[in-house]
Amino acid sequence: MSGWDHRHVIDLSAFSTDDFTTVLELAQRFRNLPVTGTRKLPALQGRLMTTLFFEASTRTRSSFELAARRLSADVQSFAPGSSSLVKGESLLDTARTYVAMGANLLVVRHGCAGVPQILAEALDRSGDRVAVLNAGDGLHSHPSQGLLDLFTLARHFSPDAPSPEALRGRRVVIVGDVLHSRVARSNLWALTACGAEVVLCGPPTLLPDQFADFVAAPPPGQAVDPVPHRGPVRLVRSLEEALPGADAVMTLRLQKERMHQHLLTTLESYHRCYGLTHDRLALCGRPVPVLHPGPVNRGVELAGALLDDPACSLVEEQVRNCIPVRMALLYLLAAADG
Ligand code: NCD
Repeated sequence: MSGWDHRHVIDLSAFSTDDFTTVLELAQRFRNLPVTGTRKLPALQGRLMTTLFFEASTRTRSSFELAARRLSADVQSFAPGSSSLVKGESLLDTARTYVAMGANLLVVRHGCAGVPQILAEALDRSGDRVAVLNAGDGLHSHPSQGLLDLFTLARHFSPDAPSPEALRGRRVVIVGDVLHSRVARSNLWALTACGAEVVLCGPPTLLPDQFADFVAAPPPGQAVDPVPHRGPVRLVRSLEEALPGADAVMTLRLQKERMHQHLLTTLESYHRCYGLTHDRLALCGRPVPVLHPGPVNRGVELAGALLDDPACSLVEEQVRNCIPVRMALLYLLAAADG
């Protein structure tokens, strides 16, 4: 756990290469725990993790809950629709209510970028000893997803010793709705920190030119980039240009719920240009793994046959890795709190 000094996990732009190494090593230890015998570790006994999810989730929330239980923490889940939010209680007062009940770890998902950061700062100011973990905020960031994607790729290239080094010099294509994707943004910070080359691919409406400079400087409010040399980022407009020479391809969901203008003509034409199929994948020139954070629009960004093909698809492996990676984050944050 050398050098880990994060009290909250909000955005991977704040992670050094050592931080990525720490998470990957710990996740590998948790992943390798025998499936039989004692499945629970006592590490978080007496701690309480509360999930505050203001947006839908299948994988993220349930895997955080399972991860906490595997570390013997107590788990509490908040459901916005049946809470006092509907009576006008503010988000911060809601969070404070759970902290007063003893929450040590708050896992927060919200449709507005910045909510986990604002909560973390407000709780720090009032002296509450609680760690905030961002489980997805608007278009901004989804750090635990970026980490589990990184872990999945690192294990693919180096099954016994997944580390940032396993990604150095690899070319990872991220294709699709980059504009609305907090997953793409978190992967950009993670992959470039490990020295991978990221090729972004999509139409101008879903991938504005400015993304070529996304990791060129730390985000506002962060003084320095903890990674001195990042891998390069390239932006291309066609899969025919993006795929030759790729080492992995990450597809993204078309986030229709976040599209407030007409950014697409039809789903069929999108699939024709940017949908990943076996034929398209062959352009890589060698067997290459395919990732997707889920949920998948089958036949839109990814052909169903490719999603279901275990020879190419790492999607189920990503889901399996949700648990050890989130265990690692919970463990590190709890340990940082003493
Ligand atoms: C992602 C999310 O919510 O940002 N899903 C996830 O956490 N597995 C991506 C998405 O919704 O498309």
